[in-house]
Amino acid sequence: LALPHRRDVPFSRLTTLGVGGTCRWLFEPVEEAQAAAFVRACAREGIPFKVLGGGSNLVVLGDVEIPVVRLRLPAVLRREGCEVEAPASYGHMRLAADVAAMGLSGMEYASGIPGTVGGALRMNAGAYGRELVDVLARCRYVAPDGEIVDAAPAPGEFAYRRGLPGDRLALGLRIRLAEGDPAAIRERVEACRSRRGSSQPLGRRNAGCIFRNPPGTSAGRLIDEAGLKGTRIGDAQVSLEHANFLVNLGAATPAEFGELMALVRERVRDHHGVDLEPEVEIW
Ligand code: FAD
Ligand code: EPU
Repeated sequence: LALPHRRDVPFSRLTTLGVGGTCRWLFEPVEEAQAAAFVRACAREGIPFKVLGGGSNLVVLGDVEIPVVRLRLPAVLRREGCEVEAPASYGHMRLAADVAAMGLSGMEYASGIPGTVGGALRMNAGAYGRELVDVLARCRYVAPDGEIVDAAPAPGEFAYRRGLPGDRLALGLRIRLAEGDPAAIRERVEACRSRRGSSQPLGRRNAGCIFRNPPGTSAGRLIDEAGLKGTRIGDAQVSLEHANFLVNLGAATPAEFGELMALVRERVRDHHGVDLEPEVEIW
């Protein structure tokens, strides 16, 4: 692919968890047209590729030999009344903080969810009973054929931790918020932050919750009840604060992390008869 790229970047620098092998080919388009050209070139050559955002929902268990694309679009917001447009490479928490500072209400729940707007679109990121689709007015993406599409989400397209389909490269979104009282917005942001601070591990590298919550229950509770908090394989450990966070104590290897995930699934299956599904994306 005759497009600018970097070679051999370790995933420890590309993900919040800091585990993984090497990213052989990293493409970083700085404008939408470049991103579309990348997708067209891959389609033409029949080359599959992966999309990387902030790497906060990723567990990388080896080297990635196919191209990886990470957008570097200009970090500019556009506001029209109560609607705000943001590029996919914009920080998700930064967007939540910026709209709160504008006196716009609706994204307070997102104040502790790291990563990018693109990752949040793909995951339909959410917390405390709210998720991105609740405020999403439109999304902009490159379709598999390289065409740029701007469309409202179809009803039912987004669900719990299921957002934009995986064959689309998100370029940005438009959210619809409401005018709010700045002090009340700040209070709700603070409430979300302190709830998170008291229940999630803040001091260790992690990828958020590793497993999806089965209907009606919390994977964290099931892992905890199976007695797994603190279980450790090498530098991979089940967090002592929240059992659905598996943390990297420093130098966890992909093998150690993969083994710990498999062990947790097996023990929860034995203990509860429930088969946990990964919530993170595994590369
Ligand atoms: P990545 O991890 O880089 O990628 C995740 C997926 O999105 C991959 O499939 C990737 O291909 C895809 N993707 C990324 N960018 C694009 C794009 N531009 N176009 C198309 N696809 C793309 N999540 C929650 O929902 N709620 C929480 O409360 C929450 N808390 C967290 C707390 C911590 C401490 C951490 C580390 C993570 C937490 N997460 C939470 C998980 C994570 O932050 C979210 O899933 C986030 O939306 C992922 O965004 P990202 O940019 O880091 O995506
Ligand atoms: N619990 C335990 N032990 C634990 C962890 C949790 O008993 O180790 C119990 C808690 O006491 C509580 C219940 O399980 O009664 C639920 O816990 P919590 O409120 O922490 O929520 P969760 O279901 O574990 C989900 C999301 C989080 C999100 C929070 C807040 C998933 C997989 N996780 O966690 O999202 O931040 O709700 O809304 O949906 C993520 O997706 O990465 C993520 C962190």
